[in-house]
Amino acid sequence: MTGYISNDTRKVTTHRLIEMKQRGEKISMLTTYDYTMAKIVDGAGMDVILVGDSASNVMAGNVTTLPMTLDQMIYHAQSVERGVSRAMLVVDMPFGSYQGNSKEGLASAIRIMKEGNADALKLEGGEEIIETVKRILSAGIPIMGHLGLMPQSINKYGTYTVRAKDEEEAEKLVRDAHLLEEAGCFAIVLEKIPAKLAARVASELTIPIIGIGAGGQVDGQVLVIQDMLGMSQGFSPRFLRRYADLHTIMTNAIGQYIADVKSSDFPNEKEQY
Ligand code: KIV
Repeated sequence: MTGYISNDTRKVTTHRLIEMKQRGEKISMLTTYDYTMAKIVDGAGMDVILVGDSASNVMAGNVTTLPMTLDQMIYHAQSVERGVSRAMLVVDMPFGSYQGNSKEGLASAIRIMKEGNADALKLEGGEEIIETVKRILSAGIPIMGHLGLMPQSINKYGTYTVRAKDEEEAEKLVRDAHLLEEAGCFAIVLEKIPAKLAARVASELTIPIIGIGAGGQVDGQVLVIQDMLGMSQGFSPRFLRRYADLHTIMTNAIGQYIADVKSSDFPNEKEQY
C-alpha cells in the first residue's frame, strides 16, 4: 500500500476543516458517486467526499451537468453515504433545485439532507443566490460555496475556459467570496481561475478555499475521481494529474476475461462446485 492512510478515525466536520486551514494542513477532497468507490475513498483517508453533479457527465454520459435531477442526486448521495464513516459528505444541489426561489431552494436542501444523509450541501454562485444561501443556512444546513467556473451556468459562458481573467470578473469573484463567508458558508470551491486570484481569496478569507484548477496556494484540492484514476479518456485539462491508468488496466482485465470465456479457460476445475 502506498500513499496516505489516516489513523485519525474521527468524523470530519466543518469545524475541523476550519482548524485544518488555521494550522496550514491541506484538505483533500474527491468526488464519489457510488457505494463501492465510497468505501475505498473513505478508507484511504479522504477528508471530504463530494457527491458532485458531475455524476451527470461521468456516470450518466451527459454533455453538461444540467440534466441532473434532485431525485438522482439523492440516489447517489444515499449510495455513497452507506460507504462513508470518516469523511465529510458534501452533496451538490442540482441545477434548477435552488436558483431563483429561496423557498424552493430550502425545500430541495431539506430533501437532500433528510433522504441523502448529507453532512453539507454545495451551491454554485455568489450574489445571485445569496438569499437562498442565507435561507438554507438559517435551517442549520452547512453550505460550501462554488465560484469561478460554474458548470451549471455553461450556457451563459458558452465555454469551459478559465474564468475571472479580467479585472471586472475577478473583483466580482472576490466580492462574492466575501459575501458567502459573511453569510456563514464553511468553505468555498474555486474552479478554473488564475492561481494568483485564488491565492488572494484564500488569504483574505478565514474559511477554507478548495481549488480545482486554481493553483496550489489554496487550502485544499478537489478532483473528479474518474479523471484522476485515468478511467475517463479525452479530458486532459492542464490542472488534471492522473494517479493511475485504470482505463488500460480495466480494458486489459475485461479483454482477458472475454478471451478466457471464449477459450473455455474460465471457469476451471477449482472455480466450480
Ligand atoms: O460536480 C463536481 O464534480 C464539482 C467539482 C468539480 C468541484 O463540482
